[in-house]
Parts: sequence; C-alpha cells; structure tokens
Amino acid sequence: MGPSAQETQAQAPSTPADQPVRVAILGAGNVGGALVSLLLSDGDAIAARSGVRFEIAGVAVGDVSRARPGIPPELVTGDAKGLVSDPSVDVVVELIGGLDPARELVETALAARRPVVTANKELIAACGAQLADAAAASGVDLLYEAAVAGAIPIIRPLRESLAGERIRRVVGIVNGTTNFILSTMSEQGLPYAEALAEAQRLGFAERDPAADVDGHDAAAKAAILAALAFRCVVVGTDVPREGISSVDPVDIAFADRLGYVVKLLAVAERFDDGGDTDDGPEISVRVHPAMLPRTHPLAAVRGAFNAVFIEGAAAGELMLYGRGAGGLPTASAVLGDLIDAAHHLRAGTAARVVPRIAARIRPSDDLSCAWYLSIDVADRPGVLAAVAQVFGTHGVSIRSMEQVGLGDEARLIFLTHIARAGDVRRTIDGLRELDVVDRVGGVLRIVGDQDDG
Ligand code: HSE
Repeated sequence: MGPSAQETQAQAPSTPADQPVRVAILGAGNVGGALVSLLLSDGDAIAARSGVRFEIAGVAVGDVSRARPGIPPELVTGDAKGLVSDPSVDVVVELIGGLDPARELVETALAARRPVVTANKELIAACGAQLADAAAASGVDLLYEAAVAGAIPIIRPLRESLAGERIRRVVGIVNGTTNFILSTMSEQGLPYAEALAEAQRLGFAERDPAADVDGHDAAAKAAILAALAFRCVVVGTDVPREGISSVDPVDIAFADRLGYVVKLLAVAERFDDGGDTDDGPEISVRVHPAMLPRTHPLAAVRGAFNAVFIEGAAAGELMLYGRGAGGLPTASAVLGDLIDAAHHLRAGTAARVVPRIAARIRPSDDLSCAWYLSIDVADRPGVLAAVAQVFGTHGVSIRSMEQVGLGDEARLIFLTHIARAGDVRRTIDGLRELDVVDRVGGVLRIVGDQDDG
C-alpha cells in the first residue's frame, strides 16, 4: 500500500461526432453476450438516447468452435490481440475476467491509446492504480462501473459526485450469491448447505462457489470501493475476509430474536483520529458476516440484490440498491461506460484522474465493535462465573447474556459492549481452554448500531 506515481493526463485522441464508435468486445460470456444483444437489437434507441451509434468491430472468444447464439459468426474471432490492435477499433471492452490474459490485453489497448471499459473486479482490485496511470499517460479512459455491484452506479458517484466528500464509511452487500444464501437461511430456516444447493439450483451460485462464499469476490469489490472512497491504493490482498460457510441457522434465528439480520458485508472505513498526517489517514477494509439491526437500510436487501451504503461528513447517509450480477444488468453498466468513453473520445478528453494519497491499514486486531458469541457449556453451578471471568480477563465487557437449556448442556448467548477484535480473539481462545466449554459456536460482529465504534 502507498501512493504510486501518477502521470500527467495526456491529450486524448478524438473521433468525429458523425462516425460510429467501433467497439472491440473481449469475452462472450453472460455479460459479453448481453452487451452484443443490447448493441445489436437496441442500437437505434441507444443512439437516440445517448447521441452515440456503436458498431461492433469484433467479439474475441477463447473457443471459436462453440455456438454463440445471438452473436453474428462474422464478428467472432479467436485473436483477441489482433482485435485490440485493429486500427479501426475506437474502444475496447474487456469482459474476460481474471488476470491473464485480461491484464496484458488491457495494457496493450491503453498503450495504443484506446479507451478501455471493463467489468473485471479481479483486475482492477489487483492493479487498478497501475492501469489508471497507464490510461492517464495515454489520455484515455479506463472505466469499470460494472466491476462492482453490477447495474448499480457506484463507481461514478464515488469518483465524481462525491469527489469532495469526506467519506467516513462504505458498507456494501456486494455479493448476490451470499446474500441469496443468507436470506434463504433466514427466511426458510435452512442450514447453509441446503441454502447453497438451492442457490445453485436457481443459478445464483456457481458449481464451485468458493469465490463467492469464501468472500474473495466481495474482497476484490471492497478494495475497489475503498480505493475510490479514500483516494488511496488498496489491493484485494489488503482485505482480510471471512466467508459465510460457518454461519449457523441457529445464530441467524437468535439474531432475529434480538432484532438483527445476518449479512455478508464489505466494509471500508476511515478513522479520523489518524488525521491527515504525512502518513495519510488510517483505514480498514474487510469482508465478514455481521449482524445488522433490522432497522438498518441494508437489512432490507434480500435475495440476490446488492446495495452500497455510504456515510459522508457533509452528505450524510446514502444508499444505492439494485441487481449486482447477471448478464443484462451488468451489460447496462458497461454500456453506460461505453457511452461516456465515446463522448470523451469525441471531445478529445478522458474521465478525470483521481488523485491518490497514502493510507495505512489499521491491523484487524485493533478494530473495535460489539460482538455476538454463542457458547455451549455444561449446565452446572459455577460455569457462568468461569465463562464471565474469561471475558473480564481480556477486557471484554458483557452487555447481555441469555441462557437456553440443551439437556445437560446450556447455550449461552452473549452480546458484548464495544471490544477490540484482538481481545475477543483472546477471549475465544481462553473459553476453548475451559473444560466446561463444549463449543464456541457463532461469533459475529455487530455493525450499524448507533454506538458501533
Ligand atoms: N458472483 C457475484 C455475485 C457476481 O454473486 O454477486 C459477480 O461479481
């Protein structure tokens, strides 16, 4: 992490207003196919609404032998490099995903002074700052509205509308798969495995769901949101993440009784006590399941929907909500970027360069919030005192406790006051060492209460 050199923005190339803008599309999956379909079937209406007529120069695919319904065969090519280097191409749209070969193709396009529109969160989270510098050096756009939260406009608002805002916190539900699974667990009382199977049956989860359920997808998006919100460099590997596979429906039911819902959150936070020193502000970026008060606007985001909640010093609270995945919703965000790129090309300009400051990431153990802990213990005299002693030893203050009988055992549900994560971790280690503790079950942060630190 740290600031990186930023090039002075070069003068952009320009195209005449009466000529169609030729688009090279790299990748013909869900989003690529939907974009082709929008551009071909809705071209006149798009031209009328936006003042730009697009022409598809080609669609690069990995396997040319595969049938691509809706994509005219004469547009399909297996030569992505050749398509990017075609001098008649005005704008390159990268929808391949992943780092390789997407990174090299995007770098080639930017070096050749072709604006790039991408939906690739992994690429932007890994090397967005370097690519932004390359785009600025060539005086062209690098736009990635579709990389975070699909159809929801969130990148442009953070980059432009809120450019002067002192953003304190961004909290997002940015992964539809996990939100669908948690909503299903909550609403139907299903265990995780059954809710995942239902998500797979309905096409919301991949056959290999790890990228979503382990939080990798949300971590990449969190890094992108934090980098824009705080004007600094944050990469995906800066983001500690916890997934949802250990969330238990019993904890969801307890959360419900206590007035909370359980959501997988991407959180980017700036600590003003760090100030604007030479070292820059201190920030935190993380992904984890958390309990949110039922009254919080994000608590109402159900199923596969996404939303991003922003807290700014002057703007106050904002929330943007919509479809975070799917071919057409994501293609809609790509199309908006394409239209911007086309107008910038005509004007011989490019989207503004976002300045970057240094920032320090606060260690995870030093982050504070209130916590929910569920502990299965032997049900006999002195056990509660022994358990409470461990909390006290590590400086974790108990706000409330509820006991539920489980035959010879009891489940103790604790809510704590604000406590450091490091102290809670040591408390959990200490509890596990007690003979009377059978299991430390659910451990969830509580986010979004008035006094959540
Ligand atoms: N798999 C993601 C989700 C969409 O479930 O939201 C693409 O980032």
